[in-house]
Amino acid sequence: MNVSKKRMMTKASVFAFAALAMAEANVADTWGMGGNLSTKGEALLNESCAKCHAIGAEGSSKISTVKPFRDVIALLPADDLGNAFIAAMSKKHTQFAFEPMDGKAIGDYLEKLKLHIDSSKQ
Ligand code: HEC
Repeated sequence: MNVSKKRMMTKASVFAFAALAMAEANVADTWGMGGNLSTKGEALLNESCAKCHAIGAEGSSKISTVKPFRDVIALLPADDLGNAFIAAMSKKHTQFAFEPMDGKAIGDYLEKLKLHIDSSKQ
């Protein structure tokens, strides 16, 4: 039960990335959409972090001295974004902790955010 659920999640995110790569020209329209892991990650950040940090591609943080997440991820290693982000969070905030699957969902969202930002810079 547990194992097959995990497999489905993995398949879903692999599919999401494949779809994203194929639709590269449409990344701007699609990166934040779809009922997948990254949508869950975005919802988690929205719920717990957005009252202070900007979590998307644009806009400033609600508290102006707090870094938007797009600036945080720009300084983190792209190949391990989710884990690096959670580690950076844990250094600043002891009040937040995420289950592994929630951490993965947040990582998926941030990877898509990074792809989106990188593709709109070209
Ligand atoms: C009550 C306001 C508040 C909330 C809510 C909040 N943060 Fe922060 N966060 C801060 C402040 C203040 C700092 C220190 C200033 C900075 O680095 O932006 C910070 C710093 C960080 C940093 C380090 C940034 C860096 O590179 O120096 C990370 C990562 C981070 N927060 C992640 C999160 C995550 C993830 C959540 C939600 C689970 C969250 N924060 C919720 C206020 C908040």
